[in-house]
Parts: sequence; C-alpha cells; structure tokens
Amino acid sequence: MTVVTYQTKPTSNQPVVRVLGLTGSLRSQSVNRALMSAAHELKPDDMQIMDHAGLDQLPYFNEDVETEGDPTTVQALKSALHSVDALLIVTPEYNSGVPAVLKNAIDWASRGASLLKEMPVALMSASPSPMGGQRAQLQFRQTLTGIGAHVLPAPDILIGSAPQRFDADLRLSDEPTRKLVARHLVRLRDWTLALGALRLHLKEAA
Ligand SMILES: Cc1cc2nc3c(=O)[nH]c(=O)nc-3n(C[C@H](O)[C@H](O)[C@H](O)COP(=O)(O)O)c2cc1C
Repeated sequence: MTVVTYQTKPTSNQPVVRVLGLTGSLRSQSVNRALMSAAHELKPDDMQIMDHAGLDQLPYFNEDVETEGDPTTVQALKSALHSVDALLIVTPEYNSGVPAVLKNAIDWASRGASLLKEMPVALMSASPSPMGGQRAQLQFRQTLTGIGAHVLPAPDILIGSAPQRFDADLRLSDEPTRKLVARHLVRLRDWTLALGALRLHLKEAA
C-alpha cells in the first residue's frame, strides 16, 4: 500500500509552527483522539503539536472562582496557549453541538487578556454519522470567530463514518482521509505564518 505523507522539509530559515492540540472527547477509544494521533503522524516537518491533556480537570467556568484567581489547571491551559502559534481542535459532536468539556476550556481561555484573540485555529471532527460533526464545527466557528480567533476557512474536515476509516489499533488507515488531514495541517501552517505579521503588528500597537 502506498502511504501518502505530504510532508514538507523545513529549510534553515523556515520557522517551526507550534500548535496546541485540544481533543473534545475524554474516552480512551475515541475516534477523535485517534484523529489527533493521526495529525501528529501527518503534520508537516516544520510543525510541532503539543496535546493538552486534562480538560476534564478544569472546574466549570464560574466568575466567582475566576475573581479569586485562576485555578492551577486554568493557569496551565493559559500557559500552554501562551506558548503556541496556533490551535488545533479535534472534536466529536454531542447532541448537534459542541462537547461541554471543550466549550468550558474555551470559556476559561477567552477571559482576561484573551489568548484566543487573533489565534489561528483549525478544526477537525469525526463521527460515526455521515455528517462528520458538521454542526459542532459550525458552533465552534461561531464561538471562536466571536472571540476574535482566525478559524481556517473551508474546506471543512468532517470525518463521517469514522470507525470504518481506522484500523483495529485506531490508526487512521483510509488513504483519502490521511491525504485530507495532511493537507489541512499544511494549510494551518501556511495560515499561521501568513497571520504572523498581523499578530506581531497588533501586539506592538497594543
Ligand atoms: C451524548 C451524546 C450525543 C451525541 N450526539 C451526536 C450528534 O449530535 N451527532 C453525531 O454525529 N454524533 C453524536 N454522538 C455520537 C458520537 O459522534 C460518537 O459517540 C463518537 O464516537 C464520539 O466521539 P469519540 O469517539 O471521539 O468519543 C453522540 C454521542 C453522545 C455520547
């Protein structure tokens, strides 16, 4: 079988794009977690993806708690966001919308000097349904755009009938899907680099 990688070789003057990975499912056999693993495998050479575990350790957002000071798990999330150039969200769809655990993380991260403002973001979703989690992505797009993040435009990566695309070890085995994911990550890299000058300008002007 031919394995399509679509990797690009970094050149000496090409910066590494650092990406924080947030997965919206907490279950061990999650197809979305497996899709994030595939992103690690298929990313371009000049991209690093750091997964942020522990979204389930965040308390429910509460302004009273926030006023007393961010809990350590919130501080860890904000610190992780502070150290990256872009965000990759891989999520299931729950009841036609976004999983609570991810929305909660975004609510925490959006507060204060919002680290999501001007942040380049790529979305991917996987579902057993043929729709592939489209409604969850639409809701994320609405929320993230509302807080000033730059969500990578279409084509959307909606992995429908997801369980059939992974092997027994939860490795993404469907070649057309691997190709889509690899291309999406190249687009995220290019989107992040293209927005870099704008972000720097806005930071200096602030
Ligand atoms: C509470 C709940 C609601 C769900 N609602 C939807 C839905 O609206 N659309 C959909 O495509 N799948 C829905 N599903 C099915 C999930 O897509 C499926 O369980 C998927 O495997 C979850 O992602 P994961 O494998 O990454 O954990 C729902 C599952 C649960 C548990």
